[in-house]
Amino acid sequence: MSTDCKSAPARGTISNFKILTSNFYLLFPYLCPLMTEQAKQYRPLQKMFMEVPGRYDLLNRMLTWRFDENWRMAAVKKILKDEPDRILDLCTGTADLLLRIAKKAKNDTDLTGLDYSRLMLEIARQKAERKKFEKINFIHGDAADMPFPDNHFDAIGIAFAFRNLTYKNPDQQKFLKEIHRVTKTGGKFVIIETSRPKNKLMKALFNSYMKIAVGKIGGKMSGHKAAYRYLANSARNFYTANEVCDLLKGAGFKTVTYRHFVGGVAALHVAVK
Ligand SMILES: C[S@@+](CC[C@H](N)C(=O)[O-])C[C@H]1O[C@@H](n2cnc3c(N)ncnc32)[C@H](O)[C@@H]1O
Repeated sequence: MSTDCKSAPARGTISNFKILTSNFYLLFPYLCPLMTEQAKQYRPLQKMFMEVPGRYDLLNRMLTWRFDENWRMAAVKKILKDEPDRILDLCTGTADLLLRIAKKAKNDTDLTGLDYSRLMLEIARQKAERKKFEKINFIHGDAADMPFPDNHFDAIGIAFAFRNLTYKNPDQQKFLKEIHRVTKTGGKFVIIETSRPKNKLMKALFNSYMKIAVGKIGGKMSGHKAAYRYLANSARNFYTANEVCDLLKGAGFKTVTYRHFVGGVAALHVAVK
């Protein structure tokens, strides 16, 4: 069941404050060491995505106890609900979301996956070929500057990369504006991402799991300690579901609803332009 978004109370100032400080960094990078540090925080991930994690898919399955598959399927259902003609999987990675969409979509659906890691895209292409989905377009590009006209996609999906685009990311507003631009009026943007449990016990369990299993064990297994430490920290401190609603509404989406999974460790947001 989906929940209507409520405005986020305590951290309601986040969007304004963070936007201000993030852009301040862009104007005065050398005068503001704190902001420089803030901008650096998402860089280890870029390196990791460029180097390609041979074990990336496997680690995803393991660290989420395979729950990620169900969450992705819930996103696929929302994306395909109104039989869209043109779909984008933003930050497609190894195309885990896109291939599930391809399997369920009608035959003539135009499917595109975009990512800035050529190596991730190569794995995605190979997986698509193996599964005989030759018609998918894989595009190397940046989510901040996409090679698509305005009002282009009926539906855009993003799985486990929205945090990367928005958490302490100085380009947060650029990404949101760009996503809104390429979404058709009446089209939707569907996000599956980690979230923040409300219940105190769940929150404590989630935080410990992130710190130990993802931060420490994931870091060791992947060989990318800094990146997995970042993943764990960003998940523990990411926006609440209502704060994500505020971000999306701030970017111009008219209606936003969300649904939590497993006590709030993940959330599915649907924003309509
Ligand atoms: C955590 S992975 C998620 C991949 C995939 N969506 C999934 O469900 O497994 C994040 C992906 O986002 C991509 N990415 C991050 N920032 C990006 C940007 N600004 N533009 C394009 N791709 C980006 C990375 O290269 C990586 O493949």
